Amino acid sequence: MKFLIINGPNINMLGIREPSVYGRQDYAALKQFISDTCSENGIECELFQSNHEGAIVDRIQSAYGVFDGIVINPAAYTHTSIAILDALKAVAIPAVEVHISDVSAREDFRQISYAGMACIKTYMGLGFEGYRQAVIYLKNYLEADK
Ligand code: DQA
Repeated sequence: MKFLIINGPNINMLGIREPSVYGRQDYAALKQFISDTCSENGIECELFQSNHEGAIVDRIQSAYGVFDGIVINPAAYTHTSIAILDALKAVAIPAVEVHISDVSAREDFRQISYAGMACIKTYMGLGFEGYRQAVIYLKNYLEADK
């Protein structure tokens, strides 16, 4: 089983950006956490982070026929990007949405998730743990589908 893990804009600034919201661990620590989680669960994973909407769309498109599942934190593009929603729908690879913070308790402009409309499940407000839950959920979902 092969998963693509996508992180959107400013996730590379973890550890520096708003530690009271996103914690003190950096993106390198997140990458390590996700890689460890995947290997513990027998999943091959590739991690991708970009600050550019089009690059994320390109990466989703090139996942077609290659990856079994996608875990995505589109970051700010969550709330604006119909292009990312359309790309997820186009490839139709089962996807789980993750947010480090609890977006439901934040500003009004964060209350819509376009990408989430193409996802089978969303985890928010659990910090790094949300990525672990997402990987496990996706694995169980795909195994049940066999
Ligand atoms: C985020 C929440 C988004 O609203 C925000 O723009 C981010 C990170 C999160 O992981 O909590 O950049 O996706």
